[in-house]
Amino acid sequence: MTGVNAITTKAPSGGVEYRKVDIEESGPLELSPIYTGICGTDKGMATGRLDFAYNPDGQDFIVMGHESICTVKSADSGTGFHPGDLVVPVVRRPGGCINCLAGRQDNCSDGDKHEAGITGKNGFMRETFYDVPEYLVRIKDSALREVGVLTEPLKNVVKVFEVVETVSRRSIYTSRDSTYSGKKAYVVGTGAEGFLFAMMASEYGFDTRILNRHPVEENRLKICDAFGLTFTDYSTGSIDESVDLLIDTSGDPGTFLNFMRKMNYNSIGIMFGTNGKAPAAELTGSDIDRIVERNITLAGSVDAAKIHYEKAVSYLSRWNSVNASALASLITSKRDPSETSLFTERDPNSIKTVIKWT
Ligand code: BGC
Ligand code: ZN
Ligand code: ZN
Repeated sequence: MTGVNAITTKAPSGGVEYRKVDIEESGPLELSPIYTGICGTDKGMATGRLDFAYNPDGQDFIVMGHESICTVKSADSGTGFHPGDLVVPVVRRPGGCINCLAGRQDNCSDGDKHEAGITGKNGFMRETFYDVPEYLVRIKDSALREVGVLTEPLKNVVKVFEVVETVSRRSIYTSRDSTYSGKKAYVVGTGAEGFLFAMMASEYGFDTRILNRHPVEENRLKICDAFGLTFTDYSTGSIDESVDLLIDTSGDPGTFLNFMRKMNYNSIGIMFGTNGKAPAAELTGSDIDRIVERNITLAGSVDAAKIHYEKAVSYLSRWNSVNASALASLITSKRDPSETSLFTERDPNSIKTVIKWT
């Protein structure tokens, strides 16, 4: 492929450029992104804060982008795909370990995998690229042409809830009526990932609170309203209830410990957000006492498998039919690929910024 417009960075040192690239690539399917989303990982790469990012072999740059919704531009016969089909490509590509061989590269056991747009594989922020059917998730619901770009961040959420279901089996975790009714879920962080976690917790039936250490604007409050979430600015007022499910998207040790100290008996704490440069915080003896005495489960979760992408697509269809405008308002702006300053900008009103390619 020669002369394709792409957004690139040099990993791990950073910087962002929109320019023409020449990449040797082929495959049975040629794809064109409609939208690609920008997340914290992209911003971390752009500013040189993501130490684990690296360029593909033989390149001194990497094409960015792992969140996308694409159309099939051309497809070899026998692939089962046709021009115009909507697809979401999978981020993580397997290495040779037992989990990777079983399609669970999200649980890779030796780190020998690649992630499109992050680690050693060119991403999706380019006019066109090639891929294979195995790593494509079909979007049959044409109403998801725009919000389908949320499939990738939502797949992380679907996996986390699978982790919750798995570890919750160590005790009776549900309420007396067998549902999650009355159980309290706290989601720390009001970015797109935070909202998707909170929407899923509410979907499961948890009494769900989404929190940040500052107030939020009207659009976020409206989304809370539409999906039955309560927003709390935890910089004012203390939290005195017990939390059954804590999901952290901040990656900040002090924040995590603060909420961990509110965790209930048999509760589950999920660490999802990462921030390698966050200041340290102290884990005390009484913290360990609490974790032990209350049978608390703390778990980390990264990425997700193709099955989780497929479930994410069903949830998006459902939420889109329940409240299309609230779901769409998670996408706060659609921008041109040339606007590379988006990767370094901090706009408190933005939830998900996407780049529009076609
Ligand atoms: C992506 C994951 C990926 C992770 C790497 C996230 O933004 O959604 O798929 O594994 O970045 O840290
Ligand atoms: Zn991401
Ligand atoms: Zn592996």
